[in-house]
Amino acid sequence: MRVDSDTLVLGIETSCDETAAALVMGGTDVISSVVSSQIDLHARFGGVVPEVAGRAHLEQITPVVREAIAAAGVDPRRIDAVACTVGPGLIGALLVGVSAAKALALAWEVPFVGVNHLEAHLYSAFLEDDSLEFPLVVLLVSGGHTLLIEMSDHGQYRLLGGTIDDAAGEAFDKVARYLDLGYPGGPAIDRAATEGDPEAIRFPRAMSDGGLDFSFSGLKTAVVNHVRRHPEVDSRDVAASFQAAVVDVLVDKTRRAAALVGATGIVLGGGVAANSALRRDLVAAGEADGRRVFLPGREMCTDNAAMIAAAGWHRLRDDGPSPLDLGAVPSMPILES
Ligand code: KG4
Ligand code: ZN
Repeated sequence: MRVDSDTLVLGIETSCDETAAALVMGGTDVISSVVSSQIDLHARFGGVVPEVAGRAHLEQITPVVREAIAAAGVDPRRIDAVACTVGPGLIGALLVGVSAAKALALAWEVPFVGVNHLEAHLYSAFLEDDSLEFPLVVLLVSGGHTLLIEMSDHGQYRLLGGTIDDAAGEAFDKVARYLDLGYPGGPAIDRAATEGDPEAIRFPRAMSDGGLDFSFSGLKTAVVNHVRRHPEVDSRDVAASFQAAVVDVLVDKTRRAAALVGATGIVLGGGVAANSALRRDLVAAGEADGRRVFLPGREMCTDNAAMIAAAGWHRLRDDGPSPLDLGAVPSMPILES
């Protein structure tokens, strides 16, 4: 099959708490993108409940796919391939999307392409700027992952560093929960921090010793200990100081990684990439070092299906379709993709 700028891919994403579908042409041109978030369903539990997520995906998948096709205004027969996240993610959630994608591919007699969710996050940058040049260093920060990756070409990844305990987004979520700021925690801390003093409390910057790995669980403990000792503290100052500690470490290590591999640019991806302080400081660091920093729009940073369709387009072009017996893979490292 010829895969070119006219190839229209339907992307499907159900790995966590967003049911999403999108139509993307040629790997870069987003024709439609629909995201149905389950945030309200999980909010009262303070986190994603896998069973609840699976059921909600089941209810949402058909209307979301239908809406993506309707919004694009195309005949389903025009769709050339169906790409879907096969991992990593929650097994019950992944299976809903994978089954739907295979069924549609079979019915329409078009190829099915299994996509690695983490690889797809890298592609959200290419959706907005396909002139990015390799090698790139990608900082992928989400609720489940904190990864520094060297991308030397499409599909060519080298893991430079990762978290040894909590993911960055997980730390945001846990600290927000402790401070009673609401769910999901990242945006809540981001908002509270705008009214707080980032220098009010000097929280530890873990593992700032030269390596490229991260650790956030000690920082979370430091926040808890500080609030216990100073119950009168303004939670906006805690939020701002905590955020400053996370951002300092993320920016510092990304900068070092970029220097190490001689990267032409730095790309940010994953839900935490929506964080205003991280965006601001990374851009400043890039300016200081003479490196291009690419920040996808906020809606492209959090889970969506346009990035799945974009990654699927590249997979299809480079490796061809996936076999229909490919299952969902709950833990799927990016290097195997
Ligand atoms: O990539 P994503 O949508 O889902 C996963 O694959 O995990 O990332 C969700 C994570 C959550 O932990 C959420 O709190 C965090 O991204 N997040 C943020 C912000 N917006 C979302 N963290 C910090 N600041 C934000 N503005
Ligand atoms: Zn994600």
